[in-house]
Amino acid sequence: MPLPDGFLDELVARNDIVDVVSDYVALNKRSGSNLFGLCPFHSEKTPSFSVNQDRQIYHCFGCGKGGGVINFIMEIENVGFMDAVAILCRRAGMELPPDDTPEEIRSRRQRLLELNKEAARLYFETLKTEKGSLAVDYIRRRGISPKMVTRFGLGAAPDEWNYMTDALKKKGFTEVQMVEGGLAKRGKNGGIYDAFRNRLMFPVIDVRGSVIGFSGRILGDGEPKYLNSPDTPVFSKSRNLFALNLAKKSKRGMLILAEGNIDVVSLHQAGFDCAVASLGTALTEEQARLMSRYTSQVVVAYDNDTAGQKAAQRAIGIFDKTGISCRILRVEGAKDPDEFIKSRGPDAFQLLLERSENHVEYRLLAAGSKYDLGTTDGKLGYVTEAAEILATLRNVVERDMYCRKVAEEVGVSPEALASEVKKTIDKRMSAARRKQEKQEMRGSVTAPGVSKMKYEDPASAVAEKGIIRCMLADPGICGTIQIDESDFTSPFLGRVFSYIAARYRAGDNIDLSSVLTTVEKSEEASELTSLAAAPMTAANAAAACSDYIARLKSLKKPAQEQDLREIADKLRTQKGYGG
Ligand code: UTP
Ligand code: MN
Repeated sequence: MPLPDGFLDELVARNDIVDVVSDYVALNKRSGSNLFGLCPFHSEKTPSFSVNQDRQIYHCFGCGKGGGVINFIMEIENVGFMDAVAILCRRAGMELPPDDTPEEIRSRRQRLLELNKEAARLYFETLKTEKGSLAVDYIRRRGISPKMVTRFGLGAAPDEWNYMTDALKKKGFTEVQMVEGGLAKRGKNGGIYDAFRNRLMFPVIDVRGSVIGFSGRILGDGEPKYLNSPDTPVFSKSRNLFALNLAKKSKRGMLILAEGNIDVVSLHQAGFDCAVASLGTALTEEQARLMSRYTSQVVVAYDNDTAGQKAAQRAIGIFDKTGISCRILRVEGAKDPDEFIKSRGPDAFQLLLERSENHVEYRLLAAGSKYDLGTTDGKLGYVTEAAEILATLRNVVERDMYCRKVAEEVGVSPEALASEVKKTIDKRMSAARRKQEKQEMRGSVTAPGVSKMKYEDPASAVAEKGIIRCMLADPGICGTIQIDESDFTSPFLGRVFSYIAARYRAGDNIDLSSVLTTVEKSEEASELTSLAAAPMTAANAAAACSDYIARLKSLKKPAQEQDLREIADKLRTQKGYGG
């Protein structure tokens, strides 16, 4: 869809990149004009993700991703250019120019989201009718309040084969869309039928508020107990969390990760409005990263059975990687948080939350249980393993505290243990340093100005990039440059050049964030951001630019002569000139 002139400039101006990024990343370090936070695009523990408010760009010094506010939304929401524009429009309260694209080619994604939204509405409305009475009974039996029913948008799927499919057909959705969206299945006779039957429906809503899928619990007994939407173009189980749309607004400063949907509803009802659950899968690194956009504190409250406790152990490792500090909460005397709250009340859960074991303690406990601490060998094994665990603590005071505790447990001096821990840390540091050096030698550590893009003519690309860098540093020189897009060997850099030149002619301001509105591909946005991030002052831009232009031309000449020779050769053989 073509956008009116100046529309994207206004969109960018009305969506300050610091505000937008802050919805996803905690930017809590400042260095010069840059704000820093943990990069949402790769796992890291120390912040290398920077946002520059003056220039309205972001750039990660770790993974090299970068761009303007539109590029950021595309990347983090995993959406296309127009979807990102639409999100930012909504955010800034701007009107999106009317969409005159015909229905057939409107994005598949968009249509699936509409389908899910309509289905969620219908399931919810069904609760108020006779066909929802079984679900209403079930809701009562599970002690879910009407307020929670509304907050979570719970609904009823009656025990019928074509309840939803018929309703959706009336709303103009096709069978193909219903099957693709996971709401219908195709039978052997070629017809379709409802995928969710006789179930209490939990819509899965993403952080932007779109219904992306469903989780349905059987009303009573039956298999499977929970049925989830399959992965679709709008739904990925491993990348989303149930109730994060609500939990992200919590003021508790943490997230509670539970196993079941019912646990989550129960927790919210008891005032723990920061509870989420993974969607019938084991916690993934993507989910952990998603959580790290909203908090650095997670309390894992899984089921109190072997499987749940094992899964909790596994979660520790995953959270560790994303820089989240996690604690394990065990609902003693109950099978899961839902049952615990029902039998002991919210205050008891609050106590558990406060006392929930620090994950170090939890890991030490687990390590200790493997050894017979009555024997020397056992003690030695435990101490060695404990040293490994304590070596991961960056907080010196915390480390010292646990050293004392472990030392006391096994009856060694705290100093001896501390020195063991120190040795482990040194070993790790030098291993990390060696790895870093190796990477640097291979050139795989991305620093500003180091390109990840492949150019057909790398030598020429250096000059082409230089020219763009100069134009951005001192837009005044745009009027003096005597080359055009065809002089560029890289189509991407040529396009950027033309765009800057056109903005100059139109009298529009030339800055990186506006120029980035013309770049849709992630690696291109990153490339442009990192090349413009390399320092250059306006004072020497003009001189540098003429050098680059001269270099570009000198590189070009032999190639052109070569071309001419080839053409001449071809003509000679084709036309039978002989020779
Ligand atoms: P549980 O069986 O512990 O569910 O599974 P629950 O929420 O405590 O169930 P109630 O209390 O008996 O109603 C935990 C989670 O695992 C997923 C669901 O997301 C569920 O909430 N699950 C479970 C499935 O995806 N499929 C299943 O068949 C069972
Ligand atoms: Mn459970």
